[in-house]
Amino acid sequence: MVQESREVLGQVERKVEEIYGDIVEGRVPVRNPRLAAKVLEEEYKLVVDERIIALIFAAFSNQRPVLIEGPPGTGKTEIGEAVLELWSGKKPFVLPCSENYDEYKVIGDFHPVMAMKKGFNEESFIPRPLLAAMILDTGVLIDEIRRSSEDFQNMLLDVADKRRIIVPELKRVFKARGSGFQIVFTSNPEDIGQNDLSDAFLRRVIRVRFEYPPREVEERIVRLRALEDPVITPGAMGLILETVKRLRSSGIIHKPGSAESVMWARMAQTVARLRGSSEVTIRDLATVAPSVLVKRVEDAEVVERVISEVLGVEADRY
Ligand SMILES: Nc1ncnc2c1ncn2[C@@H]1O[C@H](COP(=O)(O)OP(=O)(O)OP(=O)(O)O)[C@@H](O)[C@H]1O
Ligand SMILES: [Mg+2]
Repeated sequence: MVQESREVLGQVERKVEEIYGDIVEGRVPVRNPRLAAKVLEEEYKLVVDERIIALIFAAFSNQRPVLIEGPPGTGKTEIGEAVLELWSGKKPFVLPCSENYDEYKVIGDFHPVMAMKKGFNEESFIPRPLLAAMILDTGVLIDEIRRSSEDFQNMLLDVADKRRIIVPELKRVFKARGSGFQIVFTSNPEDIGQNDLSDAFLRRVIRVRFEYPPREVEERIVRLRALEDPVITPGAMGLILETVKRLRSSGIIHKPGSAESVMWARMAQTVARLRGSSEVTIRDLATVAPSVLVKRVEDAEVVERVISEVLGVEADRY
């Protein structure tokens, strides 16, 4: 007979509390998109359009997983994580995918020595994050889903659909207890060397597309994330935004996201500070630019050309 988790508070639940309870510690849930946008900006330093938050919350209300797709450095992982946290009022679990991920790594496995001695039971069972999230009623961010196998994706969809996890060895069914258990997948469809997502997968998720932000939004992101000083003048900010814009429409393989704009600004500020300057100069921008913006040797020439065209000085090469 398979027992329902709600009736029997078994050892698995206690273990989950013991192992993961502190990590997910609570905060006040925020399920109003307008308020969430404000909290994301003020507390998480994330600029997210209220309509995107509304879309994600609507998916959660309908118990549908969300697939955030978009180019690198557009905030997919951080925003996915933060939105899950606001929704459930607890920190989500983050699972970075790889080809060899399977249910034992995310649902649970058995301690080999203990299982030999005591058998395959709750005592020898080690709960893993997906099961823990369901028991603790919090979210799960499954990062870079395209890097996982199709079997793994199907297993996750089944869990998301039925909101339950069966562990046959324990003869137990664990059911989601509240609405806090939600899944967000992230993916960069243009990334090379990744698996395609199946039709079945795409049919069942709510897809949310992230793009490079418009200039004003990106400026807000960089201001929010940059150091307080040295000062980035509007002129220097304009050079950063113009360079990344041009690189995004160039043919390079690794295009800069807002992650690179932020890092470029912070690195230039730090170099300026080390010089004892109160302001970021074009030279500071040029000194750090290739180190931040060139991610692949094949891109180096184009990136360096664009940097020198926009900044009007040669980029330093280190
Ligand atoms: N909307 C945003 N608000 C604030 N910061 C942002 C935003 N978008 C990107 N960033 C910056 O980009 C960094 C990286 O974001 P994140 O890792 O979530 O991007 P990603 O899309 O998951 O990238 P990747 O595809 O490389 O995994 C953040 O730490 C932040 O500096
Ligand atoms: Mg990411």
